[in-house]
Amino acid sequence: MSKLLRKQILEQGDIPNHIAIIMDGNGRWASSKNLPRISGHQEGINSVREIVQICGELEISHLTLYTFSSENWNRPKVEIKAIMKLLLRTINKEINNLNKNNVRLSIIGDLNDLPKDPQQAMIEGINKTKNNTGLNLILALSYGSRQELIMAFKRIANKVEKGKMKSEDISQEIITSELYTCDTPDPDLLIRTGGEHRISNFLLWQSAYTELYMTDSFWPDFREDQLLNAIIDYQNRQRRFGQTSEQVS
Ligand code: IPE
Ligand code: IPE
Ligand code: MG
Repeated sequence: MSKLLRKQILEQGDIPNHIAIIMDGNGRWASSKNLPRISGHQEGINSVREIVQICGELEISHLTLYTFSSENWNRPKVEIKAIMKLLLRTINKEINNLNKNNVRLSIIGDLNDLPKDPQQAMIEGINKTKNNTGLNLILALSYGSRQELIMAFKRIANKVEKGKMKSEDISQEIITSELYTCDTPDPDLLIRTGGEHRISNFLLWQSAYTELYMTDSFWPDFREDQLLNAIIDYQNRQRRFGQTSEQVS
């Protein structure tokens, strides 16, 4: 199955440059199997490993994974603690393999919010892989898009206050350049697993013209075939950016 899908994707040729994923549904996956929620997070890591590998093989340039939102700090303390522990264990276990596969790791979000150990492990992982030239794997950790925009606006306001910039010079490019994602192209395809149809404070500015793909699959069930089907769906769309069909084709 997946061989055929891959062949179809490569023949079509229009591979998304940047895929962003809201990895949702871990808890419900676990509940549906009478398991504790953390088993869903645990199993979700197997999906992450597989999706990262396939994106690398398809030579996708950027993959952003919504791993923990600013609002997820409002979850029960035991769940947060378990997720942070899992994060630390996973990064320590996977970093050599990521490095071997030429993956370049980076983070968007407020890394300072994380407990010290996972924070340190992430920084080491980023350093270790910083010269790699393959897939750019971006983890959104303690990330909230509105918070990111507020930070950007404050920095811009500060420059105006200090006379380093005029307010009339504020442009899309200037705002983009003050975001965590300043070096990253906008996502072409945004996938959300877990059946919800919402953005949940993820990449609000960056996804102005991103193609959205929502699927009922819970994240732990989202593997190679599911990703390939999402890419095929994307390839069958016409991105018009405000123009007419005739202009684009
Ligand atoms: C996504 O799965 C993982 C995180 C938000 C950390 P959830 O934990 O939100 O799973 P559901 O939505 O409750 O099923
Ligand atoms: C979004 O999932 C955040 C991540 C996947 C990390 P949530 O489960 O937190 O989203 P809501 O609360 O259902 O919108
Ligand atoms: Mg959820």
